[in-house]
Amino acid sequence: MIDYSDEDVGNIVLLEHVNVQVPDQAKAMMFYIVGMGFTRDPYLNIGLGNMWANVGEQQFHLPTRPPQAIDGHIGVVVPDLDALKDRLASVQEGLAGTQFRWSVEADHLGVTCPWGNRFQCYPAGPAFGDMALGIPYVEFLVGPGRAAGIARFYDQVLGAPSKIESDAQGTLGRVQIGRNQSLIFRETEAPIRDYDGHHIAIYVANFSRPYVFLKNRGLISEEVRNHQFRFKEIINPDNDQCVFLVEHEVRSLRHPMFRRFLVNRDPGQSQRQYRRERDAFIPYS
Ligand SMILES: [Fe+2]
Repeated sequence: MIDYSDEDVGNIVLLEHVNVQVPDQAKAMMFYIVGMGFTRDPYLNIGLGNMWANVGEQQFHLPTRPPQAIDGHIGVVVPDLDALKDRLASVQEGLAGTQFRWSVEADHLGVTCPWGNRFQCYPAGPAFGDMALGIPYVEFLVGPGRAAGIARFYDQVLGAPSKIESDAQGTLGRVQIGRNQSLIFRETEAPIRDYDGHHIAIYVANFSRPYVFLKNRGLISEEVRNHQFRFKEIINPDNDQCVFLVEHEVRSLRHPMFRRFLVNRDPGQSQRQYRRERDAFIPYS
């Protein structure tokens, strides 16, 4: 019997933004907007204190503060890898002297931002559902033996279907989000960098159950305000031991920004090769 469980969506319905501080908005603009081809949110945070960079239905939030970097990498889906290569080459000189670099890998482009965040950029395809531009996953590196406890936390506390997998690089925990996103926790023997305060924002259908669980254990790091709370300690629910640190901004579906329309442009548009009525980009294939 086919049980059609592929049709199910877990309690985390959307991974919406990744927040990493940047020390220099001019370089951030050159990397995220000119190089990566994302779109600056035209409505919110339009000054020099912060920038929101729209990537399909997701965003990077980039407040101006000392830099932060995720120990791991961020998956990105782009409509055209060749066009991305050209754009990255065009910012090479402007970003000289930073950590910015990029390389062509077997099935993706590896890109490092000026402050060390790593991205793996893939072309749209069946593996990413109908996402033509977006952030399909964030992969965090975790210590040996941690993935199982982390997966149980997301499964039992946040209600997000999670499982342990293994591939050529070893063991990973995969947390299913919405229709076509995930969080990945990959075990590594290499030393893990100290957590530097970056955060991710997720939307959950059932808000109260994770809230009460975390509240009862003193793990709410920012109380509920405007339909959201924060926590940063991921614990193994079997023994309440902390197994990983990363701040989550947890929003209910009543948050006013849920499914907010995000402006996306086609970075292929130019004055020389202008195509009428094609400034906007629809981030679905
Ligand atoms: Fe945030």
